[in-house]
Amino acid sequence: MSNTAKLTLEGKEYELPVVVGSENEKAIDITRLRAQTGYITLDTGYMNTGATRSAITYLDGEQGILRYRGIPIEDLAEKSTFVETSYLLLHGELPTQEQWKRFSNLLTYHSMIHEDMIRFFDGYPATAHPMAILSSMVCSLSAYYPESLNVFENMDMQSTRLLSKLRTIAAFSYKKSVGQPMMYPQNHLSYCANFLHMMFATPAERYEPDPDMVRALNILLILHADHEQNCSTSTVRLVGSSQANLFASVSAGICALWGPLHGGANQAVIEMLEEMQQTKLSCKEFVSQVKDKKAKVRLMGFGHRVYKNYDPRAKILKQMAQVILNKKGVNDPMLQLAQELEEAALSDPFFIERKLYPNVDFYSGLLYKAMGIPVNMFTVMFAIGRLPGWIAQCKEMMEDPENKIGRPRQIYTGPTERHYTALADRK
Ligand code: SDX
Repeated sequence: MSNTAKLTLEGKEYELPVVVGSENEKAIDITRLRAQTGYITLDTGYMNTGATRSAITYLDGEQGILRYRGIPIEDLAEKSTFVETSYLLLHGELPTQEQWKRFSNLLTYHSMIHEDMIRFFDGYPATAHPMAILSSMVCSLSAYYPESLNVFENMDMQSTRLLSKLRTIAAFSYKKSVGQPMMYPQNHLSYCANFLHMMFATPAERYEPDPDMVRALNILLILHADHEQNCSTSTVRLVGSSQANLFASVSAGICALWGPLHGGANQAVIEMLEEMQQTKLSCKEFVSQVKDKKAKVRLMGFGHRVYKNYDPRAKILKQMAQVILNKKGVNDPMLQLAQELEEAALSDPFFIERKLYPNVDFYSGLLYKAMGIPVNMFTVMFAIGRLPGWIAQCKEMMEDPENKIGRPRQIYTGPTERHYTALADRK
């Protein structure tokens, strides 16, 4: 295979280098295209554009493969914990006993937020969406750790603080929304058990996190931990490329994730299923609506920019949902409805032709619901899971000596030169 691509423009021939990755992915390197030819490329939504080289996550959309640092997510979901997987994403290797103990202790001892930050919650209405609180509280962490303003300084410390405190901020935003006192983290609890404690314990009664729920939460967070250059991760990288501090970059990523086309889809899936139940719309009728472009209805939790096969995360979550609901003795009609809807869609040419399959968001909400987590916290759960990925990607970018501030070009389509006219002369 030639290691260059030939391009002919206005009668001149150019050769562009070809880049091949460790999984044999191929790219044409256009770094010098404009300097050589005066042309740029145009690629709305970056459908065909690679923004970076990266050694963190590999996914194959056709084969439905997802690996973190080379390890399949099926292995990690079955054998690892979210803390261990976070270490793997951040440092490139699974931790030794010693490294794991140190990392786990740091996460335990940095779980509190400054008492002054608790007062921020007084300013929010109880109806505030927790993603609004999360993004502003995360950015405000930079006010309490001024040393973080130099993003190159103690990145590991900032990362650990953020990994530990995001959980606390999330749980506190939930307690604010239900008018209950905030429950402080307990150092004897593991990462996920501590989060469930902060969410569901009250001063009135003892709360012991259910080990099955702790395990399910570990798996949910592992499955969300990274996903190469998706919308929110690309946002974190772009903001970080200006050397903004880690808290500011992640805060921007939280805002990008909030959109219903991205991480907001898990909330939108449950709202879609609830509406179907309330309106008694059958799966067949709903699928017909989705196929009617004029209806402008999407089957939320279906489709993916990269996966043109079943999202491997959705496969694991679908099995888990059944197991967890059985264990809780819950027969949630919504799970049955979701399974029927999946069947109806996967057997319909409209979805088959467009290679639309369930993605990570289709079943995750049913699991969060079974754990007692309210719908408006679902995207917050996605953010807690994705945080190690955002940090690892930002860290990889900061450590790349060739990294430059992100600044895409454009093709201008507005008016050509014209002159100012006085107000009195404008008709
Ligand atoms: C996440 O990038 C990542 O890695 C994201 C993520 C991660 O881990 O970070 O995996 C997490 O964001 C998962 C996606 C969650 N979003 C949803 O479930 C929202 C519903 N899905 C879609 O809106 C859509 O599928 C996207 C946004 C996910 C992908 O959109 P694309 O790649 O831009 O595809 P498109 O909108 O151009 O659709 C192509 C065709 C269109 O039909 P035609 O115009 O060709 O006739 O497929 C149709 C679309 O109308 N289509 C859908 C559909 N998704 C695509 N039709 C109905 N329902 C859908 N869900």
